[in-house]
Amino acid sequence: MDCNTVLVTGGAGFIGSNFVRYLLAETPLHVVNLDALTYAGNLASLGDCLEHPRHHFVKGSITNAGLVAHVLRQYAVEGIINFAAESHVDRSILGPQVFVETNVQGTLTLLTEGRAAGIRRFLQVSTDEVYGSLGDEGRFTESTPLSANSPYSASKAAADLLVRAFHHTYGMETVTTRCSNNYGPYQFPEKLIPLMIMNALADKPLPVYGDGLNVRDWLYVRDHCTAVWAAFRQGRPGGVYNIGGNNEKTNLEVVRTILRQVGKPESLITFVRDRPGHDRRYAIDSSRMTAELGWRPEVDFDGGIAATVRWYLEHREWLDQVSSGEYRRYYAEMYDRRERLGTAARLG
Ligand code: NAD
Ligand code: TYD
Repeated sequence: MDCNTVLVTGGAGFIGSNFVRYLLAETPLHVVNLDALTYAGNLASLGDCLEHPRHHFVKGSITNAGLVAHVLRQYAVEGIINFAAESHVDRSILGPQVFVETNVQGTLTLLTEGRAAGIRRFLQVSTDEVYGSLGDEGRFTESTPLSANSPYSASKAAADLLVRAFHHTYGMETVTTRCSNNYGPYQFPEKLIPLMIMNALADKPLPVYGDGLNVRDWLYVRDHCTAVWAAFRQGRPGGVYNIGGNNEKTNLEVVRTILRQVGKPESLITFVRDRPGHDRRYAIDSSRMTAELGWRPEVDFDGGIAATVRWYLEHREWLDQVSSGEYRRYYAEMYDRRERLGTAARLG
């Protein structure tokens, strides 16, 4: 689909800011960026984009129907790409309410106002976590039943069903993408990879949940951006597309790779009490993305993690800025009371 102006929501967050940068560099589009600037949203992540003549930043919530309606009309928006969300599983365990407000109510508001404004296309950025957890075998396909296990993934699954319903009932042109774990520049240091990089740089313990053998399929954030853009432009109306990196790693493998990259000892690894309801393994079959849209990931894990570590080393001021007050309170609540089970050295 060709258009002149898109609304990107959550464009001051990790993936959203990478996507806004990607669109401004690679397309002639005007990008309206609606973000509530929660703890996870940072104008510092947008840097030069803030001055860009085709970037229009609006501070506000996707749950605010009046504001969404106004923005859609004021900028003559033709398509919506919805990244805005509460995105961290551990926070959803501490307090699910805001996850329902933003991820479910917010998505419903965008769908409703988008439909009323006659937008031509709506892309919902979802997650592989809606499928639940895998054993040692198999991968998620688009027909794997939704089986969300955490309040975060339950709220994302609910949003996916609303998107499906707006297509089925009202004929709205929707596309849903379900991606595996992302990593790369501008990721908030509450998630595994930046948290471990930050702690390793500060010689602090690296808190590995449970036995450290949970598996995630890691995708470099730029590859997610190219996939979302391909799905927005060429995805089938009503279509669902899995996006993955073919990079399955245990958490321990990831943490050890980071330690090697920053030259710190494995004795920093500290096993802590497991996350309640911790999904064991995610793995994505993204063959539909390749077959229908010609997309495939370009960055392998070794290259991506090296680039990511380098980026965090070169952007200490960004890290300091985003990990001030609220982050320190969160870290204390999440980790200080978490029982330590031993160090890597002790567990062998
Ligand atoms: P993030 O937490 O880094 O950023 C979320 C952004 O949304 C922030 O800028 C925040 O300010 C904004 N936001 C939150 N509530 C809002 C509201 N009510 N109104 C407007 N803006 C609001 O998240 P992320 O990791 O960049 O994830 C972006 C999207 O991609 C999410 O929908 C997430 O579910 C999905 N996703 C993430 C991953 C991953 O590994 N990070 C993987 C698959 C899918
Ligand atoms: P996370 O980055 O929170 O992503 P998700 O839970 O959405 O997959 O966590 C990735 C994996 O790393 C997950 O299995 C939980 C684990 N983990 C730790 O072991 N320690 C930590 O401090 C964090 C944040 C995550």
